[in-house]
Amino acid sequence: MTTWLKAQYTRRDPDPQSVIEAVPFERPVLAPGQALVAVLAAPINPSDVLTLTGEYGILPPLPAVGGNEGVGRVVELGPDTQGPAVGQTVLLPAGIGTWASHVLAPVAKLVPLPNGADPQQLAMLTVNPPTASLLLGNFVDLKPGDWVVQNAANSGVGSYLVQLARQRGLKTVNIVRRESAVAGVETLGADVVLVDGEDLAARVKAVTHGASIKLGVDSVGGSATLRLAACLGEGSIVVNYGALSGDACKVSPRELVFRDITLKGFWLARWFRITPAAQQHALLAELAGLIAAGKLKAPIQATYDLMQIKQAVAAAAAGERQGKIMIVPRHE
Ligand SMILES: NC(=O)c1ccc[n+]([C@@H]2O[C@H](COP(=O)([O-])OP(=O)(O)OC[C@H]3O[C@@H](n4cnc5c(N)ncnc54)[C@H](OP(=O)(O)O)[C@@H]3O)[C@@H](O)[C@H]2O)c1
Repeated sequence: MTTWLKAQYTRRDPDPQSVIEAVPFERPVLAPGQALVAVLAAPINPSDVLTLTGEYGILPPLPAVGGNEGVGRVVELGPDTQGPAVGQTVLLPAGIGTWASHVLAPVAKLVPLPNGADPQQLAMLTVNPPTASLLLGNFVDLKPGDWVVQNAANSGVGSYLVQLARQRGLKTVNIVRRESAVAGVETLGADVVLVDGEDLAARVKAVTHGASIKLGVDSVGGSATLRLAACLGEGSIVVNYGALSGDACKVSPRELVFRDITLKGFWLARWFRITPAAQQHALLAELAGLIAAGKLKAPIQATYDLMQIKQAVAAAAAGERQGKIMIVPRHE
């Protein structure tokens, strides 16, 4: 018998797993233009955790279903509705509440994906791969052979950035905060992996033989931004896209004034808001092709059923993971 479950929250709290719970719901009646989709996989990203704690940049009205991205398989189309065929694997629309056994979605917003590809890898397509691609492509005119430095390099975004940089002929210096994360980043194709610390710029200079690094990619903030900026060549850019440390980015006047370093920010949600749909679809199609071909992937630490949503959120909120936490609803 099919169990219809969704991971819902009715309030926000600093303790994210305390507010989320799996609740049953009735099979919905479809309207024209809608599809019923069985969710195959949906990740828990840091932004999902911050949405539960109330600290993210956009917060849905309550009650809400958790999960911003994922993939599913079409189960039923609404009356008089043309769309992806029943059985087709599809990318779910962003922000639909993907931690559920099933979702109702407008067919116009479903993007067909290769049926044979790994649904757990495809489930991470909407957020982190485009972020990594745009961080590499939108700020500095990089040429093959140029160096890029990033921190939190073992994160999902960091993992994609390593692989995309290599495919574009770029070299990467990857900063992690613990020795145990080094080997995993190396296996993805990193040129250099270093553990963060006070003498970072000197160590980066030594391993790159004094190369002038043009782009620094920062998701940590605080003093980590300062250490990253010190690794860059004169006139370079640091792009911040996260606040994993919880602290404001620190950049000294020494970097800004004497070395002409610029600090910018990037938010994918804003890019989706201001970018023509055709350009968005082209980027997602390119990245989906790479994922389906096994050329782009991110490590997954563990999968959880919806009934284990509290444990899953707790695991996602914890540090020192070996990869993403993935919700994989059971469909009996
Ligand atoms: N701006 C945007 O559009 C955008 C898009 C996507 C993601 N993001 C942001 O990018 C960041 C990474 O997301 P993700 O999904 O790739 O992450 P993820 O795969 O869940 O990995 C989390 C990473 O954060 C590191 N970390 C956690 N706390 C830290 C701290 N206090 N100091 C330094 N590192 C810390 C972890 O290191 P350990 O393994 O050592 O714990 C790990 O590398 C998040 O802040 C997310 O919100 C932003």
